[in-house]
Amino acid sequence: MHLTSLHSLLMNWESLFVVPELITLSFFAVLFQVFVFDVGGKDWKFYDWSQITTVVTFGKYDPELMCFAHSKGARVVLKGDTSVKKMVDPVVRAAWINQQVDLAKRQYMDGINLDIEQHVMYSSAEYYALTNLVKEATEAFHKEIPGSQVTFDVPWTPDYIDRCYNYSGITHACDFIFVMSYDEQSERWSNCIVGANAPYNRTLTGYNNYIRLGINPKKLVMGVPWYGYDYTCLSLSMTHVCSFAKIPFGGPPCSDAAGRQVPYKIIMKQINNSLSGILWDQEEKAPYFEYKDSHGALHQVWFDNPRSISLKAAFVKERGLRGIGMWNANCLDYSNGSAAREQTQAMWEALNPE
Ligand SMILES: *[C@@H]1O[C@H](CO)[C@@H](O)[C@H](O)[C@H]1NC(C)=O
Ligand SMILES: *[C@@H]1O[C@H](CO)[C@@H](O)[C@H](O)[C@H]1NC(C)=O
Ligand SMILES: *[C@@H]1O[C@H](CO)[C@@H](O)[C@H](O)[C@H]1NC(C)=O
Ligand SMILES: *[C@@H]1O[C@H](CO)[C@@H](O)[C@H](O)[C@H]1NC(C)=O
Repeated sequence: MHLTSLHSLLMNWESLFVVPELITLSFFAVLFQVFVFDVGGKDWKFYDWSQITTVVTFGKYDPELMCFAHSKGARVVLKGDTSVKKMVDPVVRAAWINQQVDLAKRQYMDGINLDIEQHVMYSSAEYYALTNLVKEATEAFHKEIPGSQVTFDVPWTPDYIDRCYNYSGITHACDFIFVMSYDEQSERWSNCIVGANAPYNRTLTGYNNYIRLGINPKKLVMGVPWYGYDYTCLSLSMTHVCSFAKIPFGGPPCSDAAGRQVPYKIIMKQINNSLSGILWDQEEKAPYFEYKDSHGALHQVWFDNPRSISLKAAFVKERGLRGIGMWNANCLDYSNGSAAREQTQAMWEALNPE
């Protein structure tokens, strides 16, 4: 493995100096992050490596991916998930962290993305254990693997129901947090009317809420969805109001649990058979379409495309966030047809609008 590109040079510089957070943040702000989740297979061969700074591997370990990423100056990091309840015990916590560091070293990896999406109550033992876990994991990784990166995944807003974490403590403790700006409807609906997965205003409100907690924008990476939701409408009006079945989630009567997640590549294949063609919702700043399935049921599909994503990516730049990323990179069509290639390239390019 020869680390040759500018990214790897900077990556190594970072590890040479132990500097206070503020200095690191301003100096390395030049390093705009493009944070990519990969769920396995060989799609990664067709990613836009001119942009990628980190690949989080949710799939099976692939040494070929690791070497390729390093040749492009990108980091490859582990997925970290564990029971927060077990992490309350400092001995168990230290053992788990050691295991992750050892695994990362054995696989020549460059850090870990902690994806712990568990219910935690304010001021509970788990609440403190989680902040300590992030702090101790970051210290261990930075010490054992110089230049490594430790990040933590958070919901689209800090007041998300049932995940009462010490967000400022967690953010301060790690390199940056990845904000999952999607599934934003899961707690909203009271009237069971279908809407966007990641509406523009709602997405921005989430960042303002994190920043209001005292979190530096340079420690926030925006996550955009490369998937949408397909809902079966109980009724669909001429003005495109789709009402759907009630499935409870937490408290409110409706949720996106009534919808089915669909990758962008599948959505794009369905559009020619839609009743509506691509429509645009002015308020939510998101595209959608409608179709009738083989049983005659009407569906509404909401998703993100280059138009909606580039609006959010422009906010990332304006607000001075650390970068952007997506769940997940495998959702695009990497086949070799010219239409597929154009469609896929447009999605990658939307991450970095002019
Ligand atoms: C959050 O964590 C930080 C750092 O550990 C700590 O100083 C702060 O008191 C915590 N805040 C709350 C509300 O628990
Ligand atoms: C959809 O229709 C357009 C125009 O007829 C065509 O160029 C395109 O290839 C079709 N796409 C799919 C996925 O069939
Ligand atoms: C979105 O936010 C802007 C500015 O905060 C506001 O003017 C506008 O009314 C909002 N739109 C919706 C649909 O909430
Ligand atoms: C993709 O198609 C082009 C011609 O359209 C061909 O030159 C190229 O080798 C193909 N690439 C792959 C990876 O199949």
